[in-house]
Amino acid sequence: MEKKWWHNSVVYQIYPRSFMDSNGDGIGDLKGIIEKLDYLKLLGIDVIWLSPVYKSPNDDNGYDISDYCDIMEEFGTMNDMDELINEANNRGIKIVMDLVVNHTSDEHNWFVESRKSKDNPYRDYYVWRDPVDGKEPNDIPSVFSGSAWEYDELSGQYFLHLFSKRQPDLNWENPKVHEEVYNMMNFWLDKGIGGFRMDVIDLIGKLPDQEITANGPKLHDYLQEMNKKTFGNRDVLTVGETWGATPEIAKLYSDPDRHELSMIFQFEHILLDQQEGKEKWDLKPLNLLELKEVFNKWQTQLDGKAWNSLFWNNHDLPRIVSRWGNDTEYRKESAKMLATLLHVMQGTPYIYQGEEIGMTNIQFEKIEEYDDIETKNMYKDRISKEYKHEDIMESIYAKGRDNARTPMQWSGEIHGGFTKGQPWLMVNSNYKEINVEESVNDPDSIFNHYRQLIELRKKLPVIVYGSFEMLAENDDKIFAYTRELNGEKLLVVANFTKENAEFSYNRGVHEVSILLSNYKNSSFSIENLSLRPFEAIVYKI
Ligand code: NOJ
Repeated sequence: MEKKWWHNSVVYQIYPRSFMDSNGDGIGDLKGIIEKLDYLKLLGIDVIWLSPVYKSPNDDNGYDISDYCDIMEEFGTMNDMDELINEANNRGIKIVMDLVVNHTSDEHNWFVESRKSKDNPYRDYYVWRDPVDGKEPNDIPSVFSGSAWEYDELSGQYFLHLFSKRQPDLNWENPKVHEEVYNMMNFWLDKGIGGFRMDVIDLIGKLPDQEITANGPKLHDYLQEMNKKTFGNRDVLTVGETWGATPEIAKLYSDPDRHELSMIFQFEHILLDQQEGKEKWDLKPLNLLELKEVFNKWQTQLDGKAWNSLFWNNHDLPRIVSRWGNDTEYRKESAKMLATLLHVMQGTPYIYQGEEIGMTNIQFEKIEEYDDIETKNMYKDRISKEYKHEDIMESIYAKGRDNARTPMQWSGEIHGGFTKGQPWLMVNSNYKEINVEESVNDPDSIFNHYRQLIELRKKLPVIVYGSFEMLAENDDKIFAYTRELNGEKLLVVANFTKENAEFSYNRGVHEVSILLSNYKNSSFSIENLSLRPFEAIVYKI
C-alpha cells in the first residue's frame, strides 16, 4: 500500500460545546480550543476532528446545520475559525471538519424555501412524498424514535427525516444537491483544512420508496464523484461514519484504487453489548471472545487492502472506562489497558476528548437534567410503551450520549475549570480527582500512558504496518496479539478482567524487553505469565 501521512497519525476528537469556554457563557468555543492547542501538542496528536461548529439552532447540538459557511454564534466567528486553523497548522496539527450532508437543519435556507410550495426551485433538495391512505408513505423509522416522515400542512406532503424532525434529509437523487455540497466542501478545503469526517455517509444513497436507507446502490458512485470534484487531488484525510459496514463494504470505501475515502468508522465492536436485532438501549454484557473475534476479523481482512480506524469512544458513545473497563477501583489500570490494546493495532487511532484522562460516565437523577435529543425522545417513547422509569434510566446510564458530553475536566477548580459561568451541561462531580492538571503532572497518569503510546507509534513502523495475529482466541480473560514487520515482533498481552489471569507464549525461547506496561515490575517470563487485574504489557520479542 502506498504510504500516507495519516497512516501514522493520531486523531483527537473535540466536541466544541464541552471542550473549553473562553468567555464565561457556559458553552465551549473556538477561542477555548485555541487556548488548549499546546496541551494537545503535548499529548502528541497530529489531527483534530472538530465536531460541527457551523451555524445551527442546536436541535442536535450542531448536527443540524443552518449555514455551512458560517460559524455558530456561541462558538465565535469565521475569524476565530481561520485563527484556529492557522494556530493548529503552526503546531503541525491539521483540522478535520465534520461534514454533515445527509440532512440539514429545518432552518437552512434550502429547506425554508423547499417548504414554501411544491414548485419552489428548492423543493427537490429534500425528500417529499404524498400521504398513502392518509398516513405516512411507509414505515421507515427515525433513529431518534417514531416515524421518519413528518407531515407538512402547507403542501399536504410528508418530508423525510432519518434523525429529528428538525433535520430534514437532503435528496441526493438531485444533482443540484451534489453541486451545492461540493462547492461548500471546496470552500473549506481552500481554507487549508486537513480533511473531513463524514456524518452517516452510508445513508446518502438511500432509496426511500424501497425503504432502503443504508448502503443504497448509488452510494459509491456519489463518493467517487465527490472525491473527484473536491478532495481527490488534495492530500487530506477522509473518514466516513458507516454503522452497518462489514470488511467487504469497508474495502469499497477505502481501497485506494477506488478513489473514495481514506478510511471508515465501523461499529461492529461497539454493537456487541446490545441484544441482537434490538436497540442500543436493550443491554447485554460484553462477551470478550466476541470482541476479540471482531477485532481479529477487521485487523486481518483489511491488511494491505484498506485502512482501519481505531476507536473506543466518540460523542455518541458512553465512556469506555465505564463501559468495558472499571471506573472505580481499577480506573487507571483499566483505562490504560484499553488504550494499549487499541493503540498497538493497525489503523489510525482516534482519541475522544477526556478519554486520555480516563473521564467516566455520568448519572443524572431526573430525565429533565439530560440534554440529548436521542435520549429524551427515547425516554418519552418508552414511557408511552409502558417501560418502567428505572429500566429506562438504567439504559441511559449505560448508553446515553450525554455520558460523553459532560464538560472537559481541566482542573480541580469550580466546574472543573471548563467555564467561569454556568456550564450548559453539568460537569461530572468527580472533577476534583479526574482532571487534566492532575494527569499532566503525574508521570504514572493515564494521560502519560497515552502520550507514550503515541510516541511508540511514531517510533515503530511495526505498529503502523505490521501484520496482526490474534493469540489465545478462546481465553475469556486475556486479550493478546502479535504484530510483525521485517523480522521485528511485538507481543501485546492484556488482562481484561479484575481477577488475576494466566497467559503463556510458547514459540521458542526469546529475548524479551518491555516497551510499555500499566504496572510496575511486570514480568518478562512470557512463557508463564500471571497478570494482575487489567495488567497490559507491550513486549518486543
Ligand atoms: C451521527 C452523529 O455522530 C450524531 O451525533 C448525530 O446525531 C447523527 N449522526 C445525525 O447527524
